[in-house]
Amino acid sequence: MPKPAILVARAVFPEVIDKLAQHFEVEHNQADEAWSREQLLAKLQGKAGAFTTGGERIDADLVRACPQLKIVANMAVGFNNFDLPAMTSAKVLGTNTPDVLTETTADFGFALLMATARRVTESEHYLRAGKWTKWSFDMFAGSDVHGATLGILGMGRIGQGIARRGAHGFGMRVVYHNRSRLDAATEAACGASYVSKEELLRQADHLVLVLPYSAASHHAIGAAELAQMKPTATLVNIARGGIVDDAALAQALRERRIAAAGLDVFEGEPKVHPDLLTVPNVVLTPHIASATVPTRKAMAHLAADNLIGFLVHGKPLTPLNPEVLA
Ligand code: DGY
Repeated sequence: MPKPAILVARAVFPEVIDKLAQHFEVEHNQADEAWSREQLLAKLQGKAGAFTTGGERIDADLVRACPQLKIVANMAVGFNNFDLPAMTSAKVLGTNTPDVLTETTADFGFALLMATARRVTESEHYLRAGKWTKWSFDMFAGSDVHGATLGILGMGRIGQGIARRGAHGFGMRVVYHNRSRLDAATEAACGASYVSKEELLRQADHLVLVLPYSAASHHAIGAAELAQMKPTATLVNIARGGIVDDAALAQALRERRIAAAGLDVFEGEPKVHPDLLTVPNVVLTPHIASATVPTRKAMAHLAADNLIGFLVHGKPLTPLNPEVLA
């Protein structure tokens, strides 16, 4: 029997291509070319599966145009590039990569929080520019992380990982807001208390955003929300671009209405709002929260195992719309 054909839309670890090639006819993109939507559609013709990384929009038009497509395996925990209802109607399975990146992403959330509060990159740029000629008492004085109030918006697995680090590692008071409140045992394990969104904005010394992107969370932090935060507060976004109104944030940072921000994700990335590039009190990183070699390998293997699990054995590991399997 011929092997099913699949498309790997972006460059990935060669070992993952080798693994997939044991089961499939693989068309890959190891050159990591930027394909247009039309190119993606053309390459998907006749493919039973696709390996994506979050940048490829899988919507009603695409699934209609690719009738042989049975599964799209995202190498990401987030899946806002999927129109899941449209995929389900077309009986296309979507999978993501939960769990394997939780701790690594929580580590990075904390790294970005520390870098932002303690002005690590701003001071490094100053030093590299040869501007450091003498020590002074208030040079790059930031805000404390230990003992401060950590606010978390979105309390899924990654939010809980950040809460545990804050409560147990840094003696922080942790407050969170989420669509649904956690059970008491999970709250206790995270050392976190539930508050309203307004209270979260008002109380947090450091606010970390970890909620999924959807129409409902678009601009969840805009000018009105920033105005409710402390002028000494820091804001960290490791969730998705679009959750923060980047123009409003740049203005708030410039006017020092909040102290600083750390951003790993941006509206319309890889483009970054030009105003964010000119304010000094923001730490900017290129969507790398899950980027350690072991974690990216675990994500890539899980996406590959979803393709193999479904197309070869009928059993995906982490389906998002399992109703397709019924
Ligand atoms: C994810 O897994 O959703 C991260 O943002 C990496 O893309």
